[in-house]
Amino acid sequence: MNVIETINLQKHYQIGDNSVLAVDGIDLNVKEGEFVCISGRSGSGKSTLLSLLAGLESPTGGEVRLLGQHLEEMNEQERGRFRRAHIGFIFQAYNLLPQFNAWENVAVPLEIRGIPLQERKEKSMEALEMVGLTDHAEHRPTEMSGGQQQRISIARAIITRPDIVFADEPTGNLDTRTGTEIMSLLTDLFRRWGTTFLVVSHDEDMHRYTDREIRLKDGKIEKVIVQ
Ligand SMILES: Nc1ncnc2c1ncn2[C@@H]1O[C@H](COP(=O)(O)OP(=O)(O)O)[C@@H](O)[C@H]1O
Ligand SMILES: [Mg+2]
Repeated sequence: MNVIETINLQKHYQIGDNSVLAVDGIDLNVKEGEFVCISGRSGSGKSTLLSLLAGLESPTGGEVRLLGQHLEEMNEQERGRFRRAHIGFIFQAYNLLPQFNAWENVAVPLEIRGIPLQERKEKSMEALEMVGLTDHAEHRPTEMSGGQQQRISIARAIITRPDIVFADEPTGNLDTRTGTEIMSLLTDLFRRWGTTFLVVSHDEDMHRYTDREIRLKDGKIEKVIVQ
């Protein structure tokens, strides 16, 4: 089954006289459990494509279907609900809340769902265990290294066991060794669970972890490399 399908997907940005086709006619199919790396130079449209696929931004042309459902046929509220039920997101800059400690950050998706405190804490501790950070549960983001903060953001992304995880440059702020640890952690978990995984990176080595590399250039697919 195709978990992700796009048809002639486009995103056009207009700022004053400046017009950019950030995503320019992408046709993409991703199967259940597949790992795909989206590569290409800075400005090639990787982040825009990921935002369109995750329903964070709306396309100016074409279609996105996730798990057989058209994103553009949903209203804002339905899209939000669909995202929270099926999608996890990991960012380069971790995007943790500074006023919350580790387990509270991990629990945010459960809080949005109205799950009671005790259950939130238990589930967060389980997710922290999966990323090897139970001993940092009470630490705030500023008290942790970049690699530890990224583990917290991974725990937050997986706490709802999403069907699809999108990661935008998840190792971009990390040294090589920590980046390798983070990618091993992610791929081990997702292979075990059969999670569909799309990772954006301009790291040359990222293809080692994925089944297929899709290289973008000027918003178009330049090359597809099957590993
Ligand atoms: N919100 C935005 N408004 C205007 N232009 C944008 C916006 N986001 C991205 N772009 C433009 O779209 C192109 C692709 O950007 P992006 O998807 O961020 O590339 P990448 O992630 O590969 O570096 C770039 O030319 C960028 O300047
Ligand atoms: Mg980007």
